[in-house]
This record gives sequence, structure tokens and C-alpha cells, in this order.
Amino acid sequence: MDLTRQEFDDLRRYVYELCGLHIPDNKEYLIVQRLGPLLRSVGAESWSEFHDFLRRDDTSRMRNEIISAITTNETSFFRDRHPFDSFREHILPKLCKEVTSRQLRGDKRPVRIWSAAASTGQEALTLAMVILDHLEQHGGCGLRARDFSILATDISARALARAVAGDYSEFELSRGLPDYFRKYFERSGKRWRAGARLRDMVEYRQFNLVSDFDDLGRFEVIFCRNVLIYFDQETKRDLLNRFCSVLCPGGHLVLGSTESVYGLSEAFEQQRLGRAIWYRLREDAACSVFP
Ligand SMILES: C[S@@+](CC[C@H](N)C(=O)[O-])C[C@H]1O[C@@H](n2cnc3c(N)ncnc32)[C@H](O)[C@@H]1O
Repeated sequence: MDLTRQEFDDLRRYVYELCGLHIPDNKEYLIVQRLGPLLRSVGAESWSEFHDFLRRDDTSRMRNEIISAITTNETSFFRDRHPFDSFREHILPKLCKEVTSRQLRGDKRPVRIWSAAASTGQEALTLAMVILDHLEQHGGCGLRARDFSILATDISARALARAVAGDYSEFELSRGLPDYFRKYFERSGKRWRAGARLRDMVEYRQFNLVSDFDDLGRFEVIFCRNVLIYFDQETKRDLLNRFCSVLCPGGHLVLGSTESVYGLSEAFEQQRLGRAIWYRLREDAACSVFP
């Protein structure tokens, strides 16, 4: 079925309003290939009829279907490796000190880490494994797994349902997980399920990064990797500004290896920690949501 220029513009505007994803001019095939099955499933006879249907439809079911179809959920355990190495070597020891000094003050709040575009959960589970392993290697440092809390969010209900299940194929495990870390998974036939110790550290929630952050609380660390690339400059700028508002003073943000805050935000100081680039929230950063 032909997609006219007007229909392409209407549908990409709909997607943009829904989740901030910017579909560039030459990417008509994304609409055709990814939304085509949904068009057929509702019996629409043209793309404009489908667009009218979407604009009239006020159920979350179809919106969820569109989001799950249009988003790219590519991920893997220990993806790009370096951010996790430097998290273990440079960030985690500081977080351990932070929890310890909090506890000495009688403050039992855990350190909070946000995997902000978590897809099917591998990034959040990788963080949980690195933390558990660090605690085991260092005799617990007087700390327990529950002193760390990981929030894994994604806009895609389909991806998030897989993350919640924590159930992976041999292929998904072998795509990045060193054998050493298999001990944190339980084998069931040809599948591997994240063990209770990992699952207990992660809370899952469907969340649109283009919505407000008011009830998220604060985080010491935010992993937001490989999603900024799908947003336009305005959405990236706005998102980084809102990250500032939920990061603790001096908190750290890590982006995907092809992403950067350059030209988008002045609130972060770039740091090379090991072989990864991190963005540390400047002490004097003025962010708009929280004072
Ligand atoms: C390519 S995956 C990256 C997964 C993981 N962070 C990594 O680097 O391996 C991008 C994820 O961003 C999610 N996403 C896209 N737009 C979003 C939005 N507006 N809010 C929250 N998540 C979004 C997609 O559903 C997808 O799971």
C-alpha cells in the first residue's frame, strides 16, 4: 500500500508525540515495515485511514502496540563492556562509601541506579551482577545487595514484559555474558532465568522518557544508553535537563558510545573513567525541575 508524503508526515508526527522518536525524512520504510502489520490488523484500507483510526483511538492497547512495533530494542548483557568496567572500578567503590557513611548517620536509604531505557532487561541485570560480584569479592564491604536499588524502565510494554520475566535464550546469554556470571542464572531446559538474587535488586516500570519525572525520586547513577540517538535535538536537550533534576549532586550519567551531551547541556562535567566517558553533574548545575 502506497504511503504518500502527507501520510508519512502525519504518522511520524503521531509517533513523535507518543514517544519522542524522530523518524528522519528518508525513513518511510520504518513506518511501512513496522506499522504495516498493525494497519492490516485493524482493517484500515489506507495509511490515512489508519492515521485517523489512531487519532480517534483512546485506548492504551493500540498505543502500546505502536510503541512496541516502532521502537528498536537491541541490547545485550555487558553491552559495550567499558561502562560496566568503569562502573565497577571507579563508581561502585564511591557508592559503597556513600552508603556506608549514610548508614553511620542512621540513614538506611539504598543507592539508586536508573537503567532509563532498559529494553528487555540485560543492562539492569548486568549492573546487578557487577554489584553482587563486587560485594562478594570485597567480603560485602559491610554492605548487602539491598543497599543498592536498580530501577529499570522502558516505554515498550512488550520489551518490559520480557525484562520482568528475566528469561533468556542461550543465544542471548552468550551474546555478552562472561561464563563466570552464569552462576547468577538458573537453567531451565534451553532457557536461563535470572536468579532471585538478581531479580530482587531490580524494580521494573513502564515509563516514557518524554513524560515528567516528578515521582521518580533521586538517583546516584543513570544509565541511559542508545536511546538519545532516536530523539531530535530539542528532545535530547529537554531530557538531559530533566536528568539533572533527578540526579543527586555529583551524580553520574552514562550515555551510549555514540551519544554525548556536547552542545546540549552545560550541566555536566565530562570524565573519562577507564575506557568509558561519564558525565558528572556539576555541583553548581542549575536544573529546572527541582531546586
Ligand atoms: C536500543 S534500546 C537500548 C537498550 C539499552 N539501554 C542498551 O543500550 O542496550 C533503546 C530502548 O529505548 C526505548 N525507548 C525508546 N523511546 C523511549 C521513550 N520515549 N521512553 C522510554 N524508553 C524509550 C526502546 O523501547 C528501547 O527498548
